[in-house]
Amino acid sequence: MNNIKVKLRSPKSDESITNFLRTRRSNLVRLMSTPGPSKQELSEFLHIASRVPDHRKLNPWRFIVFEGESRRKFGEHLKQAYLKANKNASTDRVIFEKEKFLRAPLVIAVISSPKICSRGTPQREQLITSGLVCYNLCLAAQAGGYGAQWLTEWCAYDANVFSAMGLDASEAISGFVYIGTVNEPPQERLRPNVDSLILNWT
Ligand SMILES: Cc1cc2nc3c(=O)[nH]c(=O)nc-3n(C[C@H](O)[C@H](O)[C@H](O)COP(=O)(O)O)c2cc1C
Repeated sequence: MNNIKVKLRSPKSDESITNFLRTRRSNLVRLMSTPGPSKQELSEFLHIASRVPDHRKLNPWRFIVFEGESRRKFGEHLKQAYLKANKNASTDRVIFEKEKFLRAPLVIAVISSPKICSRGTPQREQLITSGLVCYNLCLAAQAGGYGAQWLTEWCAYDANVFSAMGLDASEAISGFVYIGTVNEPPQERLRPNVDSLILNWT
């Protein structure tokens, strides 16, 4: 017998995936510009995003995609919703909110769309799954060479935005994932002391 350990996975791909995950950071939307992903890339990202753990295969999410002119058109709904909630908003702020989706070439709303399940997958688990979709979408876009940031902001919680997007009463917005080209690598941020988060049960 010798001491050679068999590697089950390719060391090269193993190393690059580990490194990608170890150094992953979100990209700031304010640093995003064109170009955005092509149709084919977008489809690929949405397929990867949808490859998530999902208790009882309920697919409790869906996507609403904003790109090109639709980002500008939706801005009118954002403006009206913002003004309803903030009657004394400054003109500058209203313009900023109206142009929110123009910050990146592609904005994808990930909708939590819980399913009634006779065997009872809790709604909480279905919501978690839609969060995984947001995260996987960010990873897919970044692995594809784009910047990505998962934001909610006020518009993920506004009833007028929900109705403009055609959400039904059981649905919610898990996040808006902004995707675009970034030219600057993000700075590292403070990370948790992971050891302090671990309890070894005895
Ligand atoms: C559910 C969720 C909602 C978020 N919403 C916002 C937001 O509205 N505004 C914001 O500045 N960051 C928001 N973030 C944080 C960023 O997406 C990102 O995680 C953070 O800027 C940096 O973390 P990272 O580089 O480790 O990904 C949100 C994150 C999550 C998970």
